[in-house]
Amino acid sequence: TVRWEIHDDKTQYKDAISEAAKLLRDGETVAFPTETVYGLGADATNADAVDKIFAAKGRPQDNPLIAHVGSKAQLKKLVQHIPEYVEQLMDTFSPGPITYVLYSNGTCSDKVTAGQDTIGVRIPDHPIALELLQTCNIPIAAPSANISGRPSPTTANHVWDDLQGKIAGLLDGGPTGVGVESTVIDCTQEIPIILRPGGISKEQLEEVVGEVKTDPALVNDQLKPKAPGMKYKHYTPDVPLWLVDGSDEAIQLLIDKERGKNKRVAFFARDARCHGMTADDIVPLGENVGQVATRLYDALRKYHASEMDLIICEAFAKEGIGDAVMNRLEKAASQFLTDIPNE
Ligand code: TXA
Ligand code: MG
Repeated sequence: TVRWEIHDDKTQYKDAISEAAKLLRDGETVAFPTETVYGLGADATNADAVDKIFAAKGRPQDNPLIAHVGSKAQLKKLVQHIPEYVEQLMDTFSPGPITYVLYSNGTCSDKVTAGQDTIGVRIPDHPIALELLQTCNIPIAAPSANISGRPSPTTANHVWDDLQGKIAGLLDGGPTGVGVESTVIDCTQEIPIILRPGGISKEQLEEVVGEVKTDPALVNDQLKPKAPGMKYKHYTPDVPLWLVDGSDEAIQLLIDKERGKNKRVAFFARDARCHGMTADDIVPLGENVGQVATRLYDALRKYHASEMDLIICEAFAKEGIGDAVMNRLEKAASQFLTDIPNE
């Protein structure tokens, strides 16, 4: 795996990106930063290239990939019809952390769409990603650049830990910004439907287009999600994680009880909630849920199984980006405790 360090050395920027673009055009895989998480890219029109993504990640074949493009003009070349509300959403949020699911016109390989008639398309808002996409001038299929099931990568080192030796290249552009993945929206219906909450919140979408629905499978385990990826367990840390909703006193009692069983317990919470708490490790995730989003995946990768026995993490309000943070935490958690006793 070639690794280009281009986060502070701007002199190598152009050369590194043109080498990476050449690898992509030659049917190889290259990981690159986006504003959400690192993606593992390959030529979306080349089935053999796309196969290499599934092989490197150990990803189930029935889970479609997002096609990344560098401009609206390029996006339009991959899909059939663009509804008026998608034009409005694109004008406001693209480039940005939003993916539109539209009817494919067949330009991208069936491997990308997992045989469906729709394709997810997105324009990432990151200078390296945009420069790379514009340089190779082909649609790039890119899932998050992690081993399937693990937390998504928000630094180049996360990618390196998971995929070193299994991919052709890695553009190290430093830590990503948003920290959780793009919002995936089904745009094949009259009213848009959120299939995966992400960097753009439901509230933000509604400000632009009025009514927005949410795939009912996101809140009902009995239903089959429309985004195939949402049915898989994901973001699993090496150490069991309990998501906990309760007062500071109740959470402290729970921590004490588990430590009393000889377990080493880490506590994850917003900065303000960390003060005055006692545990084997206290991990402040930021002042607000937006900062929590940026640090979450790094925190989920913090311990190997031998280093900690349990992570207890506070639950957040499902508002704004808190919706995406809670969606990821509910998948990462082995338990969600909502009624813990105060004494
Ligand atoms: O922020 C992101 O979206 C990152 C960066 C790298 O761009 N990418 C990402 O890709 O999260 P991935 O493959 O990890 O997640 C894509 C999600 C999956 O849940 C997948 O099932 C869904 O989008 N998806 C993709 N194409 C779809 C389609 N045609 N119909 C329904 N769901 C689709
Ligand atoms: Mg992923």
